[in-house]
Amino acid sequence: MDFQLSEEQQLIQKTAHDFAENEIKPRARQADRTESMPMKNLQGLAELGFLGFLVPEAYGGAELGNRALCLALEEINRACASTGVALSVHNSLVSGPLVKFGSEEQKKRYLPEMVRGERFGAYALTEPGYGSDAVSIQTKAERKGDVYVLNGQKAWITNGTFAGLVIVFATLDPSLRSKGITAFLVDPKTPGFNVGKKELKMGIRASETTELSFDDLEVPVENRLGEEGEGFKIAMDTLNGGRIGIAAQAIGIARACMEDSRDYANQREQFGKKIADFQAIQWKVADMAVGIESARLLAHKAAWLRDQGLDHTQAAAMAKLCASEVANQAATDAVQVHGGAGYCQDFDVERYFRDAKITEIYEGTSEIQRLVIARSVLGA
Ligand code: CAA
Repeated sequence: MDFQLSEEQQLIQKTAHDFAENEIKPRARQADRTESMPMKNLQGLAELGFLGFLVPEAYGGAELGNRALCLALEEINRACASTGVALSVHNSLVSGPLVKFGSEEQKKRYLPEMVRGERFGAYALTEPGYGSDAVSIQTKAERKGDVYVLNGQKAWITNGTFAGLVIVFATLDPSLRSKGITAFLVDPKTPGFNVGKKELKMGIRASETTELSFDDLEVPVENRLGEEGEGFKIAMDTLNGGRIGIAAQAIGIARACMEDSRDYANQREQFGKKIADFQAIQWKVADMAVGIESARLLAHKAAWLRDQGLDHTQAAAMAKLCASEVANQAATDAVQVHGGAGYCQDFDVERYFRDAKITEIYEGTSEIQRLVIARSVLGA
C-alpha cells in the first residue's frame, strides 16, 4: 500500500474538505436540532460526483474505489455525521453491491439514477427482533410465478424516508438459516411498501432512520439481487465494505473533536494562562492524534485490501472497532477540554459526543467486530 496519496486522491480530499467546510458544516447544527436531512447537502454531493465512488464509468460513476471513498467520508463526517452516514450507506451498502452482484439490466436501470442523486439507497437487513443475529431474520419471501411476495418488518433503516431504492433481505425458508436468505432490489413506490415511524435518536439526528414494513409486496423476479440463498453472503460482503465507511466516519468525528479542542485550548485561559499550556490538556490532544492516525491506517489498509479484491473481513472489523472507540474517547475528552461550554449546545463537541456513539453500534456492534476478529485469529 502506498502511503503517499495520488494526485487524484488529494484532489478528492480537498474537494470534500472544501464542500464540507463551506456547505455542510454551516447547516449541521440546525439539521441536528430539526432532525431532518439537509437535502441540499446530498444534491451538492451528487454534483461533485460523490454518489458514484464504486460505480464504473459505463453507468455514470467515477469508480474511484474504497480508499478514495474513505478520504471523502472522513472530510464529510468531520462536518456532519448525519450527512456522512447517508453518503456511506448510499455508496457502500447499496450502489456497491449492485455493481458487484447486479445483472447488467439492473445496473443500467438503477446505477445512473443513483449516481445523479435521483434515487438514494437504503439497506434493509435489521429487524425489530434480529439485529446482531442477522442470520435469524424473519421477513418472508415467497415465490409466486414471476414475482416474489414479501411480508415482514425492518428496523432502524438509514435514509428510510427518502430512499429511492432499498436492498431488502428476506428468507425463503427460515429453517435454511443463512442459506435461505435472498436479496431484493425494491422500489419504495411499490404497493405494500410502508415507511413506519421515524426514530428520535440520541445522535446523528439529521439522519432519517425509520421502520419499514412490507404487506404482500410484489417484487418481480428480475429484481432479485444474486441467486436465491445468496443473500446472506451478499449482506456480509456488503457490510465488510460498509464497516470501512463507518471507520472513516468515526475518524472524521474524532478529527472534529481534536481540532475543536485545539482551537478552544489555545484561546481559553485559566490560572492566568492558556489551557493548552497545561499537560492535562496536552495529553488528551496527543492521545486523540495517536488514535486518529492509528484508526486511519487500519481503515486505509482495509479499503486498499477491498480495492485489490483481497480478503479484508478481519481488517474491516479491526478498522471499525478501533475507529469507533477512538471517536468515543476523543468525544469524551473533547467535552472535558471544553468543560461547561462543552456540555452546552453552543459548541459542536456536544453534538460530536452524541454522534460518536452510533459508530460503536451500527453496521455491527463493537462486540460483533470482536467476534469476527476473534474467529479469524482463533480459526474458529
Ligand atoms: N464476511 C464474509 N462472510 C461472512 C461474514 C463476513 N463478515 N460473516 C459471516 N460470514 C459468512 C460465514 O462465513 C458463513 O458462511 P458459510 O455458511 O459459507 O460458512 C455465513 O456467513 C453465516 O455465518 P455464521 O455461520 O458465522 O453465522 P453466525 O450467526 O454465527 O454469525 C454474524 C454471523 C457474524 C454474527 C453476522 O450475523 C453479523 O455480522 N452480524 C452483525 C449484523 C450487522 O452488522 N448488522 C448491521 C445492520 S446494517 C446497518 O447498520 C446499516 C445502516 O443503516 C447504517
